[in-house]
Amino acid sequence: MIIDGKTKVCGLIGKPVEHTMSPLIHNTLAEKIGLPLVYVPFLVEEDVITAVQGAWQLNVLGMNITVPYKSDVMAALTECDELAAKIGAVNTLVRTKQGYKGYNTDISGLYRAISSEGIRIENQKVILLGAGGAARAVAYLLASYGAGKVFLMNRSLDKAEKIAAEVNQAFEKELIVPMTLTDYSGLPREKMLCIQATSVGLAPDVDKTVIEDREFYQWVHTGYDLIYRPAKTRFVQLVEENGGVAFHGLKMLLYQAVEAFELWNGVKVEEELALEIYEKMKGEMGIEE
Ligand code: ATR
Repeated sequence: MIIDGKTKVCGLIGKPVEHTMSPLIHNTLAEKIGLPLVYVPFLVEEDVITAVQGAWQLNVLGMNITVPYKSDVMAALTECDELAAKIGAVNTLVRTKQGYKGYNTDISGLYRAISSEGIRIENQKVILLGAGGAARAVAYLLASYGAGKVFLMNRSLDKAEKIAAEVNQAFEKELIVPMTLTDYSGLPREKMLCIQATSVGLAPDVDKTVIEDREFYQWVHTGYDLIYRPAKTRFVQLVEENGGVAFHGLKMLLYQAVEAFELWNGVKVEEELALEIYEKMKGEMGIEE
């Protein structure tokens, strides 16, 4: 593309930023749609607030925020989307007249990824594995998109209980049921969607998963692993071996970017183009299926 006086700049703030796939996604989207936009990584060593204020002064159109700044950056916002504020984490900053508005497209992107696979959440019973930062955000997603019941299973019960209490209070219903990882005989006798939101199974620990017992997988008709490195996690394998359908988290990464791009540019990215980019991402990751 030709960079000229009208070219807009977007970027990713984080530490580290070297291994990100976001420039590939956004620059390809801009090129295919024909928008004068470049997306670059911004390594911020420590002061994310000053970085964001500087970006605004430099007329930067929008930014993604990654580890470790997703919470800290909130102090630099002039406005925040309601769900992102509840979760307490933003990954997307959209330029407004006054400053930046924060959004959490990790969550709306996960919803879009799940929906694009034909998986429903509304009124469904869902098993959610984990009670860390990622699982907490997914718990909010499930609550805000109308899940029927969520069985939140974690190694440490106290963390599951804390998230359950917080989300149940925020949505004023007894939606989330905290459990330990060995409690599954107490689950209702039916197959459910299971979202894997722990860090277990992430490369290099590819031969591990959070529940090894095959018995558990009888409860799972669809498995969704937030991990995408590797694509075929042990969780994905176990779900498939027990007759379920399983997905890895790369589409979540795709759609969090697509949603951010749409917010910055006021455009709708067609599904066909999103899937074309997805093929590029898979190529980059060496994923074949
Ligand atoms: P993230 O930001 O990816 O969610 P995190 O907040 O550190 O990371 O949370 C990690 C999650 O993986 C937690 O649910 C953690 O369980 P605990 O709350 O009991 O620590 C889970 N986890 C990590 N290692 C685990 C292991 N070896 N066995 C079971 N669960 C594990």
